[in-house]
This record gives sequence, C-alpha cells and structure tokens, in this order.
Amino acid sequence: MKLSLSSTPLTEVKTPCLVIAATEDGPLSPSAQTLDKATDGQLGRMLESRDINTSTAKTTMLHGLTGLAADRVLVIGLGKPEKLTAARWDRACLAAGKALRDHPITECHIFAHDVEVEDVDETWRLRQMALCIQRANYLYTTTKRPKDDDSIPLRKAVFNQAENGQSALDQASGMAVGFLKARDLGDLPPNICNPAYLAQEARQIADSFDKVNLEVLEEAEMAELGMDALLGVSRGSANGAKLIVLKYSGGADSEDPVVFVGKGITFDTGGISLKPGANMDQMKYDMCGAAGVLGAFLSCAKLDLPINLVCIVPAVENMPDGDAYRPGDVLTSMSGKTIEVLNTDAEGRLILCDALTYAERFNPRHVIDAATLTGACVVALGHHASGLMSNDDELAGALVAAGDRCMDRAWRLPIWEEYMSQLETPFADMKNVGGMPAGAITAGCFLSRFTKKQSWAHLDVAGSAWKWGETEGSTGRPVGLLTQFLIDLAA
Ligand code: BES
Ligand code: MN
Ligand code: ZN
Repeated sequence: MKLSLSSTPLTEVKTPCLVIAATEDGPLSPSAQTLDKATDGQLGRMLESRDINTSTAKTTMLHGLTGLAADRVLVIGLGKPEKLTAARWDRACLAAGKALRDHPITECHIFAHDVEVEDVDETWRLRQMALCIQRANYLYTTTKRPKDDDSIPLRKAVFNQAENGQSALDQASGMAVGFLKARDLGDLPPNICNPAYLAQEARQIADSFDKVNLEVLEEAEMAELGMDALLGVSRGSANGAKLIVLKYSGGADSEDPVVFVGKGITFDTGGISLKPGANMDQMKYDMCGAAGVLGAFLSCAKLDLPINLVCIVPAVENMPDGDAYRPGDVLTSMSGKTIEVLNTDAEGRLILCDALTYAERFNPRHVIDAATLTGACVVALGHHASGLMSNDDELAGALVAAGDRCMDRAWRLPIWEEYMSQLETPFADMKNVGGMPAGAITAGCFLSRFTKKQSWAHLDVAGSAWKWGETEGSTGRPVGLLTQFLIDLAA
C-alpha cells in the first residue's frame, strides 16, 4: 500500500473517501468541525440523530454530503472521550481498516488522527492508524483466488500532515511487511508450509537484503551438534527438519546481537501421543512463533535498524510413525541434559531447547523465543495477551513496554523455582511435561533450564498468534511487539 502525507485542506481533498473520527457526545474534532461547517451542519445532525454510530470501533460510511470535494466520508466511532485509551484507538483503527477494505474504493484520505488519546501523541496515533489499515487489508490468496464480488483492497492512503509524519509512516510500513509475512506463513496449509518451505522463505529474505545472511542446517549437521531432542521430534516425519539461521548485520561488528528463536512445528499431530481428530487441522498454526520471528526479522531489515540480529528457526514436523519417538524415551539434548519424554505432544520445548543452546554461540545480548507452546496459556490469557516469562526483569519490562506501545501486548507470568519440582523424574535430568497445574509456566521453566547463562525471555503466543472461529486465521503477532522492542533498543 502506498502511504503519503498531505496538507490539502479537508474541504478541497478530492478522494473517494475521507476518514474522520468522532467520540460519543464529546466535542467535535477539528476536522469534524471543518466538515460540519462545510456541509452546513449535516454531520452534526447525523451525530445528533445517532445515524452515525460513535461507539468504540463502530464505523459509518456517509454518502451524498454536500460542500465537499470527496465522494464519501467514513466516520470512526471512538466511544466516550474520557475513556479513549490507546487500546481503544487501536481497535477503532482496525475497524476503520476493515470498513475501507469492504467498500469499493482503492484510495482514502485520513484526518482521523486529530483526536486526543490517553498517554499517546499524534505521531503515535498516525503510526498506529497506518499500521492497522495495512494489517486490515490482508487477504489470504495462495490457495483461494479472490472472487469478482470480493471486497477490493485499498492501494493508497493519504494522511493529513502530522509531527514526524514521515517517520511514523515509514515505521508503520516496515512493521506491516513483517506482520503480513507472518500472517501469510501462518495461514498456509501444512502440505505447503513445511520445514523446507520455511527455509525457502528465509532464502528469499536473505536474497532481498545485502545485510542479511542465511545458513540452513540439515539433519546430519544437527546430529553432529548433538541436537537429539530436536531430532527426536522430527524422527517420525518424512519431511526432514531444518535449522534456519538468519543473520542481519545493521550494527557494528563488535556489537553482540539480539537473538530470536521461533517454534517452527509446521504441523503438530502430537506424535505417538496423538491429538484428538477434532480441530487437528489447527495445528498448522504451530509454526506461528517461527512466522513471528521471521516477520520481525524482515521488519528489522526493512527498517534498516542499526543493530545486529540473529533469527533461529527450528523447523520440524511432529508425526506418528514406526520410527517416531515414544513416551518413555530419554533424549540427550545438545546441552548434555537428559530429558524423559512423557508426552510426545510436548514437542515444542524439545526443539526449542536445542535451538536455545545453539543460540549461545552468538554471545547474545538477549535471547527471545516465541512459540505456540501451550494450550494452558490460551486458558490463562485468552487471545489478547501473549504469555511472557523471563529470567531478566529489565528485559521483561522492555518487552511489556514494547507490547503496550504497539498494542501487541504481553503479560508476565512467574517462573519461580517452586514450579521446577514439577519437572523432576527418577530417569532423567527432567521430564518434558509438568502436569496440569500451571502448564504455561512449567513449559517456561523447562526452557529456562537451557538459558541460565543468557538474558532470556519466552513469549507463549498460542493464544495471540492465531484465532479460531468465524474469522479463523493467523494474526501476525508477535511481530509488532518484537519489532517495537528492536526499534526501542536501537534508539
Ligand atoms: N502446539 C501445542 C500447543 C497448543 C495447543 C497451541 C492448542 C495452540 C492451541 C503444543 O505442542 C502442545 O501440544 N502442548 C501440550 C502440552 C502438554 C502435552 C504438556 C498442551 O498444551 O496440551
Ligand atoms: Mn504438541
Ligand atoms: Zn506444538
């Protein structure tokens, strides 16, 4: 989508669609006032009669207004002005994006960012609007061609000039590219998006940027490194595992990199501990952690951030087979620690532990992993927050703040040593399941045993990275949080 800034007065803008915002019973925004005056009070009367819905994230398309050069006006409802938080602004922006997408227009001109929102400035409001309308413009097309009567995507959005407007738009575009890549990867079926496909995607990213290098390790190389936990999971699959390692060099050679690790289970049947048949298809989303870190890596490269970043994706399929790993097997991880497998469906932590050990060789400033790791995290936090666990309070604080800043929020859970006893077994250094209580936390505790030397954080994105139901699909999260974290770190 083409984004640009303009200072043409509202009444003179020739566009298929003007976009303004209105709060419930609040004073009119400057652009709403201008519009009201130009239309001889038409806007005010429609607000008065409630033909325009000003509840949060409700949108109303107005046609046939007089006194304007524009064909239509989209009014975004923002609810009560005194309750207008950044979270509500974000929801309203996504709704506006959907409305724009659903109307037969390819261009719009936006004035909506002139309303006060709690704790944020105009630059932020503009960035978030620009990000949201790009996110809302997404349509999955790989295996389903759009029909003739489908909605028409937006191609161009012009924004009324604002402070730091250009950098806000640049940031929004950089973030959007990663979001949309992550979404597309998440939505792809598992017969297309397998480990080799993810490696190919990484190849495309590497080929697009001078500062990016790629290495892909095959199973034989992983065996040499002693990654038997990862390879144990892969053994039942005909699609060989790949360890994808992307490097972005935007900082000084001497600067230690941030390392991202993403769970790339391209399909999770549960293995011999087979999942029930109902909804098993949803386990194509089990590579959304990988999609998220690849997306954020892409955003980082697009934004040309002055930092060094490594992105590690263990890409593996978890299948049942005559040669598959079994419950009861004891695997030796790359770290040397032994793991008793009590459930082959707790496979994410097994591929991640070896990838996290591999990460040590980069001497990371911080290691952050993202994974659709546990159903328990969805029970705990639902779809609104990613679960955050960390051994570094400062890093955890920075990640929570980054999530708040781009409305891709995370909520911290404790990984106190008291939980660790749930991982004890007589037959190995640990077992791979911790029982029913605190399932998201014991998974985090498991990973923490492989990151003791590092400043590390874990994002459980099982609930945030994709949604089921009527509007099933991946969300592109946590690309926003991770990219914002990098932007903040680079600043
Ligand atoms: N990929 C799943 C977690 C998951 C479940 C994500 C539902 C999204 C929705 C993971 O590999 C898994 O199966 N976890 C088990 C762990 C258990 C066996 C300890 C779970 O959550 O049930
Ligand atoms: Mn599983
Ligand atoms: Zn899984």
